[in-house]
Amino acid sequence: MKLSSLLQREEFWCAFSETISDYLASRFCWQGRIERPASAHAGLPLRANIHTNLIYPSGMAGTVLRRFAREYAVDRQPLKRIARQAYVTAALSPPFEWFLSRRYLQYTAPPPANADSWVYLPGNHSIRVMDWQREVCHIVRKKGCSKHFLEAEIDVRSRFPWLPIPPLNAKGADNSWFEEPMLHGLPLARLSGSDEIDARWQDARSSLAKLYAQTRKERSLREHCDKQLISISAGCGKIPHFDELGVLPAAQRLSHLAAAGPLQQIEVCQTHGDFNPSNVLCTEETTWIIDWEYSQERSRIHDALIFVLRAWHPPGMADRLRHALNHPTELTKAVQWTGAELNFDGSHRQQLAVFLLEETATFVNEAIGEGVLSPGPALSTFSKELTACVAYLSAYKSPTQKPQPLTPAAGLS
Ligand SMILES: Nc1ncnc2c1ncn2[C@@H]1O[C@H](COP(=O)(O)OP(=O)(O)O)[C@@H](O)[C@H]1O
Ligand SMILES: [Mg+2]
Repeated sequence: MKLSSLLQREEFWCAFSETISDYLASRFCWQGRIERPASAHAGLPLRANIHTNLIYPSGMAGTVLRRFAREYAVDRQPLKRIARQAYVTAALSPPFEWFLSRRYLQYTAPPPANADSWVYLPGNHSIRVMDWQREVCHIVRKKGCSKHFLEAEIDVRSRFPWLPIPPLNAKGADNSWFEEPMLHGLPLARLSGSDEIDARWQDARSSLAKLYAQTRKERSLREHCDKQLISISAGCGKIPHFDELGVLPAAQRLSHLAAAGPLQQIEVCQTHGDFNPSNVLCTEETTWIIDWEYSQERSRIHDALIFVLRAWHPPGMADRLRHALNHPTELTKAVQWTGAELNFDGSHRQQLAVFLLEETATFVNEAIGEGVLSPGPALSTFSKELTACVAYLSAYKSPTQKPQPLTPAAGLS
């Protein structure tokens, strides 16, 4: 998650200081703390840059930092790429670094061996510590965040060792951290070349389709929706100003819509839960699927609908829902790779309502945390789109156009 969004949503620097200080104390018996503000003459300062999303010790070599900033610096548009590369070069070395990547924190004592060369990547529920000398990443649960997210990452790695996820090298007894190898690749979102992008998508989808086939179960649709509603209600009282967003009434309406139609049972599987191009990491040899913290049992069609509705970027989601429902052939083709059936007999509206309910539960759970001061930009934008989606789905009548029969290869593109 972007540092800029985290700073808007929570007391991020406090959470960072506590998380990393405690982690260094418990794993390396370190006696110091990470503190702010960084005074010029005290311990080793940590700088941060909100565009490249890096937190790093002052004085770190620009060549190392540029490796981690590559994801930011690469862009399909040549002009943007040049501008970004120029920014990265300036922002991560003196003299521009002094004001583009300011000192926010400091180690109060010399950090444990090697730790003075770690780069930190901030996340929603964890801090990723990149040890570039040992070529490993430590993923540390952020203070105040639910245990659930890191546990999901660990659980999927141990239950499905054949999935293309970076393997678990080691983990804490209480699941508060784990270590995995560092990969040298680029997310699919940053690749250029449409043939390669298609082939990589196909790889990632085949892995997920295998996961669905292996974990599929039938569930009562009513019980599945009730479970989502209970999870969404948990946001009341835990997220400041949550009630003002109108998420709960929208979710209740979705639950009614999900019940209205021929489907009584629903097929559920282990899903990824955040299947988007930033979470497909491509190295030369392998198409890795990363970021399993939202993985759980959901409807089989869930990951495909995340992609159809671009649910990771809520603005415009209601328009995309409208488009999808008015183009049944396109929609059927886009979800075919999951192995789920989408029939335009009224059950498709139920399936979309279930998806929106599951996605609401994900957004609400993502926003819950001890240091959280507001619902944050993600949940706030999502709730606006959700209200528009629910209004559209309530008024929706099936289009007269029926989906065209699909060829076996269709839906994989
Ligand atoms: N094993 C890895 N090796 C190198 N970089 C990684 C690895 N896993 C994730 N990353 C990078 O770390 C960043 C955040 O990872 P991710 O698990 O997707 O967290 P977030 O929840 O912040 O999206 C991404 O930019 C990704 O490219
Ligand atoms: Mg991610």
